[in-house]
Amino acid sequence: MIEWSESKIRSFRKTLLDWYDQNGRNLPWRKDHDPYHVWVSEIMLQQTQVNTVIPYYEHFMTEFPTVTDLANAPEPQLMKAWEGLGYYSRARNLRKAAKQIVNERGGQWPQTAETLQELAGIGPYTAGAIASIAFNEPVPAVDGNAFRVFARLLEIDLDIAKPQTRPVFEEIIGRIMSPDRPGDFNQAIMDLGASYMTAKNPDSAHSPVKAFDQAYLDGIEMQYPVKSKKPRPVKIAYYGLVIRQGNRFLMQQRPSDGLLANFWTFPLIAEDDVLALSDHPELTTDEERLTLLEKLVQQEFGLTIHAVPMGGKIIKHTFTHRQWLISLLSAQVKPGADLSFFPGKWLSEDELKNMALPKVQEKLLTRVYQTK
Ligand code: ADE
Repeated sequence: MIEWSESKIRSFRKTLLDWYDQNGRNLPWRKDHDPYHVWVSEIMLQQTQVNTVIPYYEHFMTEFPTVTDLANAPEPQLMKAWEGLGYYSRARNLRKAAKQIVNERGGQWPQTAETLQELAGIGPYTAGAIASIAFNEPVPAVDGNAFRVFARLLEIDLDIAKPQTRPVFEEIIGRIMSPDRPGDFNQAIMDLGASYMTAKNPDSAHSPVKAFDQAYLDGIEMQYPVKSKKPRPVKIAYYGLVIRQGNRFLMQQRPSDGLLANFWTFPLIAEDDVLALSDHPELTTDEERLTLLEKLVQQEFGLTIHAVPMGGKIIKHTFTHRQWLISLLSAQVKPGADLSFFPGKWLSEDELKNMALPKVQEKLLTRVYQTK
């Protein structure tokens, strides 16, 4: 890692902010510095790209124009507005934090990075972004962009996957950032990270800060940031049951904790639970598995089904730590079957259209409609 002198730091600030003033992106959440606007956009941008976020952000602001509207939002309406963005706990935390502001703080926002972290779903990055952009506090906002940009500028060799690395970057960036325009400084770094200093295809030769980019000058920019690999997501195989009667599907509501809490999906039965019913799990044939599956559904839910593979590729969906591999089966249950042991109900195609469905269920439904 290299050190910057005071005069180099001043020169960097000026170069960066001059560039930002001319070339900063015109984004809907940059029209003002309202903390509600900054906050909602930052939460959306956490796991989703700018171009995808823009229409969601604009729609969200028409549905819930103020933090009070969000605090009072009915859950289904909130989930519908979030549908397609994924990571739904972000939306639930948004409403929780809105309630904290409205009900516990008399509508007053905490105004520092430290106190903003008392709100649900706000970690050090988001707190830094809101505090600097909305309240002008000179604090860094260290996300993947900032890690990459500063790792390259200063050839910082620390592993950004390690939690102890963040405070070191915060310290370094805190010294470099503009004390007068902290919000613009942080957003300029985001824009740099999205344009000339991207992860995969940087264009450092044309970057406004190329003279400060030590890794580029040394021809080793692709070595930065240093990041150790995360373990791969654990694979879990499921059978997805497509059970139709007329235009209705038998849908299951997921438990209130864990992945996709409270969402509706086709009934998903883990292959491991099916195999646990066999005396020789590693030797089962496909037909035996289907028989075991029918037995399990009988035992667990009291439903008699006859399941038939729908064909087509296994449907994959990756979460942060899990990958689901789903084989779709089409099945029948007797009309008027007793659903008292089944955690779900019949839902019509129209009802499904009006509910927020998790992405994985959208994928399953798309396949079902294609094979109809
Ligand atoms: N990524 C995260 N926050 C952002 C912001 N405020 N503007 C553009 N990209 C971002």
